[in-house]
Amino acid sequence: MSAPNLDIINEINRLKKQKNAVILVHNYQRPEVQDIADFIGDSLELSQKAVKTEAEVIVFCGVHFMAETAHIVNPGKTVLLPDNESGCPMANMITPEALIARKKELPGAIVVCYVNSSAAVKAETDICCTSANAVRVVQSLPADKEILFVPDQYLGQWVNEKTGRQMYLWPGFCPTHMRILGDDILREKKNHPGAIALVHPECRPDAKAAADEVMSTGGMIRFVHENKAQEFIIGTEIGIIYRLKKENPGKTFIPATDKAVCPNMKKITLEKVLRSLQENRYIITVPEDIRIGALNSVNRMLAIG
Ligand code: 13P
Ligand code: SF4
Repeated sequence: MSAPNLDIINEINRLKKQKNAVILVHNYQRPEVQDIADFIGDSLELSQKAVKTEAEVIVFCGVHFMAETAHIVNPGKTVLLPDNESGCPMANMITPEALIARKKELPGAIVVCYVNSSAAVKAETDICCTSANAVRVVQSLPADKEILFVPDQYLGQWVNEKTGRQMYLWPGFCPTHMRILGDDILREKKNHPGAIALVHPECRPDAKAAADEVMSTGGMIRFVHENKAQEFIIGTEIGIIYRLKKENPGKTFIPATDKAVCPNMKKITLEKVLRSLQENRYIITVPEDIRIGALNSVNRMLAIG
């Protein structure tokens, strides 16, 4: 490790103790940011961790909606997002106004909301889900009810297939996962016979159909730990490969495509984490009326796990 990085890390650790801070890191973050995590995980695991933490300050190395969720469940704590520009394009594909209009067209439908959405959108929904629990969440809903699933059409399509429920899908998508094609999976399977292809549910239907397993990033981490195979084709944002390699040094990981990079997830650097702790920035808060509405939807999800 370079000397400047070591200085930054020492200072981050000193400030972390001084401020009673915890650093939560998503699986897609840069390697050097993953290495300073107190806890690293997928969206569900990070929200569960945010609920339980006893720290006074949460430094969230992820994207804006994740930091918002940490504040929704922890209004008494300071939640910091080291780069205020790290948003999620999918979350921006739905607004509360557009959702309210759609709900009027589907008055009986239960609204299931992927956490990749703003707090204001969550506040207009009945229950949240992540890619790890979306099937469980939908299965928990009364069988005679229609479902409006927002904002990811591809996660929604997959849940629809798994549950057979009557679902209306919002036309949102993840531009990063869209870059992973079914042909990429098929090509790498041909190049690596014997490799198991793991794909995220945000991917297109053709990529999921070509995969062996479809799961969240946290699911991939567990699957690789538990599976005896030596080679895995990874169909999600490629930042996860650093963690997979680090935790499974004997195994080989092949990205389905090098194009699957989320630029927003890469905006956070060690320097920005340090500044975040030094200057208490950027503080993420949600107005109380919106927070309460969003909390109901998030809590219903957390009760399901
Ligand atoms: P998970 O880590 O929950 O699988 O989510 C992936 C993602 O794209 C988060 O933005
Ligand atoms: Fe959003 Fe996709 Fe990036 Fe996840 S990977 S933060 S869904 S743009």
